[in-house]
Amino acid sequence: KYEIRVIVLSSTILGVFFFALLFNVFSRKIDVPTCIPYDASFQKAEVRKVDDDYYEVYVTARMWNYDPGEIVVPPGSTVDFYLTSADVVHGFNIERKGVNLMAVPGAVNKTTVKFDEYGEYRIVCHEYCGVGHQNMMGKVLVT
Ligand code: CUA
Repeated sequence: KYEIRVIVLSSTILGVFFFALLFNVFSRKIDVPTCIPYDASFQKAEVRKVDDDYYEVYVTARMWNYDPGEIVVPPGSTVDFYLTSADVVHGFNIERKGVNLMAVPGAVNKTTVKFDEYGEYRIVCHEYCGVGHQNMMGKVLVT
């Protein structure tokens, strides 16, 4: 029957998407950003060392900077970013890391990034947020 073919085709497409997602998560070690329940305690600027190679970073975006503006971690670190905003919606893009998050007031977005190589990774706001938008940036220093 025609309907069966449509169902089989759409399930196949869904399966392919699902496989692509799993492939990205496991093989390429790209973390799928998650939205976690908001709590005002996330609105703090903190780089918390959990272990020698594991950090939690709480970032608050606001017009027009990130707090903390400079995040320093040693090479080989895995960093959990907890991102929120104190005013409007901002972007959070870490260059060369494929991180593309939104900082949303009243919400916390989390992603995990591994920094293996020494260097400076700029963080830029890629969501228009007012006159200071193009100057809104921060950085991760792997040193
Ligand atoms: Cu913040 Cu654009």
